[in-house]
Amino acid sequence: MTYLLALDQGTSSSRSIVFDADGRVVAVAQRELTQHFPQPGWVEHDPLEIWETQLATAREALQKARITARDIRAVGITNQRETTVLWHRRTGQPLARAIVWQDRRTEPLCAALRERGLAEAVLAKTGLVIDAYFSGTKLRWLLDTVPGARALAEAGELAFGTIDSWLIWQLTRGATHATDVSNASRTLLFNVHTNQWDDELLAALHIPPGVLPQVQASSADYGAVHADWLGHAIPIGGVAGDQQSALFGQACFSEGLAKNTYGTGCFLLMHTGSRFQRSANGLLTTSAAQTNTTPAYALEGSVFVGGAVVQWLRDGLQAIDSSGAVQALAESVPDSDGVVVVPAFTGLGAPYWKPHARGAITGLTRGSTLAHIARASLESIAFQSAALLQAMDRDAQAAGAQPLRELRVDGGASVNNLLMQFQADVLGIPVLRPKVVETTALGAAYLAGLHAGVYQGTDELTQRWQVERRFEPQRDRAWAAERMAAWEHAVRQAALD
Ligand code: G3P
Repeated sequence: MTYLLALDQGTSSSRSIVFDADGRVVAVAQRELTQHFPQPGWVEHDPLEIWETQLATAREALQKARITARDIRAVGITNQRETTVLWHRRTGQPLARAIVWQDRRTEPLCAALRERGLAEAVLAKTGLVIDAYFSGTKLRWLLDTVPGARALAEAGELAFGTIDSWLIWQLTRGATHATDVSNASRTLLFNVHTNQWDDELLAALHIPPGVLPQVQASSADYGAVHADWLGHAIPIGGVAGDQQSALFGQACFSEGLAKNTYGTGCFLLMHTGSRFQRSANGLLTTSAAQTNTTPAYALEGSVFVGGAVVQWLRDGLQAIDSSGAVQALAESVPDSDGVVVVPAFTGLGAPYWKPHARGAITGLTRGSTLAHIARASLESIAFQSAALLQAMDRDAQAAGAQPLRELRVDGGASVNNLLMQFQADVLGIPVLRPKVVETTALGAAYLAGLHAGVYQGTDELTQRWQVERRFEPQRDRAWAAERMAAWEHAVRQAALD
């Protein structure tokens, strides 16, 4: 039997999954990760805890699968993106805690860069807006703030990396300092047209090039997991940021194919092929996972509060005892009876970009109950995703491309049938849930398997992708337009304009 091992290092946990060559899950191991909030708006992880939990889950997954490292053909890595680590090349010790993608501390630095008129150059070269979300200003902050860091960096003693690079460095015992194009495209430092670090952006952000990892395709030779770790050396052949990895695992390899991951937040990505599509509707352009040196792109939009609205129902409103109870409560009423919940707890992201918006519940009457609020909360996940998809369609149309014809889904909340049906109803296109919903890890396994020759090409992977359930729209377009209008009306109230 041929097996592939995917390491999936996420924001809240480290996971390892053993797949067989048919893409079936054989074993899963998971460890939670400590979140550090040293100041309001700051979020940090301990890089050593990331590494230790990742290694522990890899060992556990092999044990659970009753196989050894010799049975694994290749390892794939996928990771929370943008989170920034700086470490000593000689010792492998981090200089500070990792600054997590959610961390907002570098917003003043971003404002200064915007004031210097850099927004257009950054957008044209990277596809990104200047925002604290991305790695570049986090790295700059570490170099400027950790005592001695800049001098050490200039002397070539330090290495920077997103979580993929950090894990590769540890796994190979310092033999490989590399990242892939999809992770590099989230740094603000990478030119996604040339697939190279950009000198002008490095100078603007005052980053010494000597700290940077080598950038490779997402399916490539990343060295080998050292025999010390799992008992036998295994080649690392696949690396991609988690959202691009999920796009790959959903077999979205060509223009117009899209997936939405329903996690704490939602991440909607649409492949645009070799076309770098600038968004006129508040979306980002990013590098898709690439199996060779030809650039490939995706449009990306994210919803800050997706499945997290269910946690709020449970912990904030105490409307349910467990997250799983939400569907039953929501289904106890036929519809939300005009109630709209806008979970703008931390502002609204794409396509609205209203950082100061706050949550709102509109349409309440004497007849409104917790069940209506629960139903409207679930619906809010679908409305936000629909707003992103409409923005993508507008961008696609402006480029003369086809609007989206179907949406592939994955992530924890994609198991909720009520939500998926409602999603199809508001979108007016079919929503497809695949048999394997571990698509993030599967993408990394596929990338590794391609490099190891387990698969011959993406056509083979396209054939393997199988639908578990297809949700057809059951409402007419007038109904959907009315519901979207009610949603947009509530958003305007939440945004206070
Ligand atoms: O851009 C951030 C994203 O990659 C984080 O994903 O699933 O770890 O929350 P996740």
